[in-house]
Amino acid sequence: MEINFVKPALPGSGTVVLVIFESQGLGELGQTLDRAAGGQLTRAMTAAEFTGKSDDMLMIQAPAWFDRVLLVGFGPLDKAKPTIAEAAGGRIYALLGAVKATSATVVLDMPKDAPAGLNLAADLAVGALLRSYRFDKYRTVQKPGQKPTLVELTIATLHPNAARSSFGRAKAVADAVFFTRDLVSEPANMLYPESFAERVRERLTALGVTVEILGESKLAKLGMGALLGVGQGSERETQLVVMSYNGAPKVKNKRPIAFVGKGVTFDTGGISLKPGAGMEDMKWDMAGAGAVAGLIAALAGRKAKVNAVGVIALVENMPDGKAQRPGDIVKSMSGQTIEVLNTDAEGRLALADALWYTVDRFKPQAMIDLATLTGAVIIALGSEFAGMFANDDVLAEQLLAAGTESGEKLWRLPMADAYDKQIDTDAADMKNISDGRGAGSAIGAVFLKRFVKDTRWAHLDIAGVAWAKKDTATVPKGATAFGVRLLDRFVADVFEH
Ligand code: BES
Ligand code: MN
Ligand code: ZN
Repeated sequence: MEINFVKPALPGSGTVVLVIFESQGLGELGQTLDRAAGGQLTRAMTAAEFTGKSDDMLMIQAPAWFDRVLLVGFGPLDKAKPTIAEAAGGRIYALLGAVKATSATVVLDMPKDAPAGLNLAADLAVGALLRSYRFDKYRTVQKPGQKPTLVELTIATLHPNAARSSFGRAKAVADAVFFTRDLVSEPANMLYPESFAERVRERLTALGVTVEILGESKLAKLGMGALLGVGQGSERETQLVVMSYNGAPKVKNKRPIAFVGKGVTFDTGGISLKPGAGMEDMKWDMAGAGAVAGLIAALAGRKAKVNAVGVIALVENMPDGKAQRPGDIVKSMSGQTIEVLNTDAEGRLALADALWYTVDRFKPQAMIDLATLTGAVIIALGSEFAGMFANDDVLAEQLLAAGTESGEKLWRLPMADAYDKQIDTDAADMKNISDGRGAGSAIGAVFLKRFVKDTRWAHLDIAGVAWAKKDTATVPKGATAFGVRLLDRFVADVFEH
């Protein structure tokens, strides 16, 4: 889909979308159109009680010289902000798809008294673009009605140049979101540790990022017994991928911000085998790693002035004759030993070594990990919020703010010492599960905490938000790429000045 920005004008034909602010009625262009259509728009608005609320939608067939006019409610003007404009853009994309439009002009019919400088056009375009994502590479037959129709979206705004340049930056981030969604959507026969690493290398080196891929012999030399234990039952070779992006080479503080991702390309549970029903979902147990790869692509793509490193642990959790058993004790790179009482609590094992490696090698200013770590976080927060655990209140606040701004929302959960005691064990330095069933997400978090030293760190448990069961305004059902836009916002707000 091609997106253009133009000065406010009515096109000579086709489909027009008029974005109407709540209780503001038609703007200048809307009134022109209404007059040309003999008052058809205002009559329809009255009849349908269309006031411009954010869910309001009204379609008028063949008014004046147009095929159709869609009136789309934006909600109140004084509450306008980027996430709301994005949602409107996403809804518009879906509506245009439903009426099989091939091109359309969206008119942001701003009221005269709209605050100067309020420029929603780029956000609206981003929302439409994000909604347009599809993963259909494995569909060899699609009926005409199943294919997306919209190829060109023109947005009429008072400030087309400003919109074009801010959309340019956002487009780099949206491309990265699509990269992440592609990775997360792939089935596990196609995307396994080596093919994942290769795709990251291809995409990120092209963006000027340095990519290192560490295979099993290197990981063994580093002493990563926790990560390697997870992949022991798999035919696929475990990989650790390091992405270094140097966007601020002259900055005094050379220490990067680090992002670490859980990349379990398939999680059967291992010998602690998962039930069959729903196991296919575990192809997206690498969504944390996918988000980290996408985030680094986003930062490089929009040339962020920051030094960032991404580290992803790629491993497949399978049961076979060589697989690790419940009760096995492994030695992590940190030297700490772990009694693996449940082979299905594998994400924390993989991350233990990835986190330690990152801290040890890069001494980052701050470190954020993303992981589809626990089913328990879905019980706690559903798909509305990701769970956040942090050892630093300032960092937590910064992330919460970025969540609100980006629409990828976080909710902070407690990481108290009382939870930490619950993973002590007699046989080793720690065990990978607690005895009880309570606070499963916090247990995961305190386990990870033992591998971050005193680094400012936050853990995002994204098990509930990585995959959408139904469409939302800007995220079609499927892989969400949760974390890419959140952390891109976080980096922009906190580290780039
Ligand atoms: N990958 C799962 C967590 C998960 C569950 C993600 C559902 C997405 C949807 C993780 O590896 C896991 O199996 N966690 C266990 C931990 C338990 C054994 C302590 C869980 O949550 O049941
Ligand atoms: Mn598991
Ligand atoms: Zn898992």
